[in-house]
Amino acid sequence: MQIKFKSLKLENFKSHQYLNVEFGDTTQITGDNTKGKSSIGEAITFLLYGTDLTGSTKFDPFPSNYEADQTLVSLLLDVNGKDMLLGRGIQKGKTQYYINEVPSKATEFNEVLEQMFEKDLFLSLFNPNYFFTLHPTKEQRPMLLKYVPAPANKEVFKALPEVQAFKLAELVKKKSLEDLDKIHRENKTKLEKQYIAAQSKTKTLKEQLDENAPTVPLESLNAEDSQIVKQIKELEKATESANDKNRNFNELQSQIHSLNDQIEMSKERWPRLRDEEIEDTCKTCKRPLDEESVQVVKDDKDKRIDEYKSQHKELVNKRNALREELNSLEYIDVSEQQEKIRELENKRYPILQEVSKHKHIGSLQEQVDKAAATEKETLDSLNESIFIIDSIKAFYAKEAELQAEKVQALFDTLSINLFKEQKNGEIKPDFEIEMDGKGYKKLSLSESIRAGLELREVLSEQSEVIAPVFVDNAESITKFKEPSGQLIISRVVAGKELEVATDE
Ligand SMILES: Nc1ncnc2c1ncn2[C@@H]1O[C@H](COP(=O)(O)OP(=O)(O)O)[C@@H](O)[C@H]1O
Ligand SMILES: [Mg+2]
Repeated sequence: MQIKFKSLKLENFKSHQYLNVEFGDTTQITGDNTKGKSSIGEAITFLLYGTDLTGSTKFDPFPSNYEADQTLVSLLLDVNGKDMLLGRGIQKGKTQYYINEVPSKATEFNEVLEQMFEKDLFLSLFNPNYFFTLHPTKEQRPMLLKYVPAPANKEVFKALPEVQAFKLAELVKKKSLEDLDKIHRENKTKLEKQYIAAQSKTKTLKEQLDENAPTVPLESLNAEDSQIVKQIKELEKATESANDKNRNFNELQSQIHSLNDQIEMSKERWPRLRDEEIEDTCKTCKRPLDEESVQVVKDDKDKRIDEYKSQHKELVNKRNALREELNSLEYIDVSEQQEKIRELENKRYPILQEVSKHKHIGSLQEQVDKAAATEKETLDSLNESIFIIDSIKAFYAKEAELQAEKVQALFDTLSINLFKEQKNGEIKPDFEIEMDGKGYKKLSLSESIRAGLELREVLSEQSEVIAPVFVDNAESITKFKEPSGQLIISRVVAGKELEVATDE
């Protein structure tokens, strides 16, 4: 894109009631103070944007000290070899727009301009001081970087250590670095906690394992136990046969007991039977019974006495026989053996406990192994996330370094700081222009013009837009590099009327 100014016509613009300016490759404006030199540059920014050279909209060029009907500025431009006549006027406080002499709406006018070039870019190219009036990080930086693209990922990977580049190249196939950074930062926080928990779990399980580790080999435990079991079995066998015998003894004893009871009862019956009277009178009629009848009663009593005696004797004989049998038996006392069995069982207890340790140690060891594996896995993914975070950080640092190199290579005398290292080592976007170690605000007028010209040259080259430049107050500067585009230069010459001269 190449923009050239052919001619400019001012009517009632500030102190200029009427002025026609023809532009050449170089246009020299000279004159004393207040002769209207700056106004010529201002007329161009007014025409295009309604502003002064710094882009201020508070600019009002309508004559304040003489009568005028309308302020009118017309500029004949050559845009890529095509002529265009633009006009802007102010009448009764209202703005008029003209495109090729056709009265137009503000929107149409602005659209035509926007299609040609960006406002900030044009003003930066036209007025070398303009760029420095912009906000460093919000406007200057994006504008410069818009035309100096960031290095491609591939370039950055090449400059990174191979392991980092390899890892990131793989990851960026699926997610952006920004997202990866967010994901792995969150992972890191989560995994750090998980790792601490995993470590303490392994530790606890290991302690449990140590506490429950068997100290005696299983074979010797089993041998010792079976020895005791054998002793117990022998004792049990002995007590069992004793118990059988004792059961018999007890049985006899209880039978004797019961017979004794029966004998006692039988004894109690005897006196009544012995002393039973023989009735010799009838119970109902009270008349004496005959002898024969009395004999029958006597015989009956004798018979019952005989029966009683034989029964009683039988009981006594039976009991005596059992007593004899009991006397031949012996009650065996097994309490000592039972005590011995209890002692042996107690002796078995710690051995069996030790045996059970052997049984459980396997699964406990398994749990420890599993916990240790989880711990290692957690540590591995934690380290992976840390590695990715560090790699991304290294990527951004390297990208910044490469970009800074790329930008810096475009300048001769200016140094451009695109980044600032923060206290935590992180690199943050920044924007600062220096000339010989001095910031723009510290530069003299001539230095600032030179800095501005160098900067607009880079912008012109990178954006591939060639536009005129207006160097105001150029009397303060002796020499500068020929800029791309037309040069409009204004100098104070004491005692001189306004003069506009081209090199043609
Ligand atoms: N709205 C206005 N109406 C009339 N004159 C103005 C207006 N604004 C500024 N001026 C005057 O125009 C003159 C020319 O200004 P300027 O172009 O800055 O001169 P130079 O750059 O040659 O010193 C100044 O005397 C200034 O006071
Ligand atoms: Mg001036």
